[in-house]
Amino acid sequence: MALRLLGISGSLRRQSCNTGLLRAAQKHLPAGVTLELADLMDIPFYNADIEGKPASVSRVLAQMAAADAFVFACPEYNYSIAPALKNILDWASVEPGNALLSDKAAAIMGAAYSRGSSRSQYHLRQVCVFLNLHPLNKPEVFSNVLAGNFDKEGNLTDPKVEQMVADQMQALLSWAERIKP
Ligand SMILES: Cc1cc2nc3c(=O)[nH]c(=O)nc-3n(C[C@H](O)[C@H](O)[C@H](O)COP(=O)(O)O)c2cc1C
Repeated sequence: MALRLLGISGSLRRQSCNTGLLRAAQKHLPAGVTLELADLMDIPFYNADIEGKPASVSRVLAQMAAADAFVFACPEYNYSIAPALKNILDWASVEPGNALLSDKAAAIMGAAYSRGSSRSQYHLRQVCVFLNLHPLNKPEVFSNVLAGNFDKEGNLTDPKVEQMVADQMQALLSWAERIKP
């Protein structure tokens, strides 16, 4: 099956563990399936007063338009979604007909402190309701950055978490195929 996935990490940090989860996911895809990563570094906050679309925003929105499904790596900030991730979803949501997001499948994974970003992931699932995104229910991927699962570059080093990521990618491909219009 040929499928284009877009990975979006809510952390802008160079050594981000959440971005590390996406790199791990890239290693567990069959031939024909690609997982490109979005770069949110230069995306401004959504503001209806901004005239035209900044080039950085157009670049990521074009990636989102081309994607068949999404993989969100969702850090937890103060029990909720990190602003960089919510912000790009806000930009995408105002495109005509919500065409970049509506009816697409998504997988959600995340790395944070002891609860592994579960609270922010459930907030993201709530956002998906309004955006008409279809997040995969299971398997969930919650990873604790304090448990030594990542090296200092943010690469995933824990084989158990890596297996969870691999299993989630496999489930996402089946899910995307099932809900394909
Ligand atoms: C402003 C801020 C708030 C945070 N709040 C939480 C939190 O509520 N729960 C949690 O588990 N981790 C929290 N963290 C930790 C982040 O989730 C952690 O920095 C992140 O998982 C590391 O991800 P990264 O390596 O991808 O940048 C917070 C971090 C920051 C900077």
